[in-house]
Amino acid sequence: MKVAVSFISSNYDLETTIKKIDESKADYIHVDMMDGIFVENCNFSVQDLKKMFKETTKPLDVHMMVCSPNKYVKEFAKMKNVEYLTFHYEAHRRPIDVINMIRHTNMKVGLAINPETKVSHIIPLLNHVDQVLIMSVKPGKGGQQFMEDVLYKVETLKDIREENNYHYIINIDGGINGDTIKKAAKAGVDMVVSGSYVCKSEDYDKQIDSLK
Ligand code: DX5
Ligand code: ZN
Repeated sequence: MKVAVSFISSNYDLETTIKKIDESKADYIHVDMMDGIFVENCNFSVQDLKKMFKETTKPLDVHMMVCSPNKYVKEFAKMKNVEYLTFHYEAHRRPIDVINMIRHTNMKVGLAINPETKVSHIIPLLNHVDQVLIMSVKPGKGGQQFMEDVLYKVETLKDIREENNYHYIINIDGGINGDTIKKAAKAGVDMVVSGSYVCKSEDYDKQIDSLK
């Protein structure tokens, strides 16, 4: 199981948290970006993120919780170590345009869906994405409870991938801990995002190991 660690709810300050994740066994640093419009909270600009991740070495799994994600693509393409650039299906009227913009960079395309969004809406897009991010909490903050009823989407996405020979990975974000990981793993996700379970602990690697 691949593990991406989100740093937005932590016991340490931002700089220390990011350093600790970068030095841990995490496969990715999951970067949550919020604009105060798509979600209530507002945190970093791309310029802020560029500074924050200047020294880190792990690949970045960027999760844009923003309206008009197309506006940010060019700037993210200039940031180092961004492997996945993920945007929300609900955030743009023509998601295929955003997908095409990202595909023209050297970043991989991620498509996120909110808990209430059905897989049927994104079927025409699945041939064009490298990651599907299933939200298992309402996007916007860490430390919420895992919504088990989104797990059926994992099964559906696995079937569609197999039938069509698509290549996307299935990632899940929100409320992942030592218990809920078992359900996510059983459903068949390739990757999980974990925030507070890792960053509110003393021993990051111990928590990450329990998810892997
Ligand atoms: C939620 C964010 C998540 C969050 C995960 O809006 O996208 O990445 O930080 O945090 P936990 O694991 O605490 O739910
Ligand atoms: Zn996230």
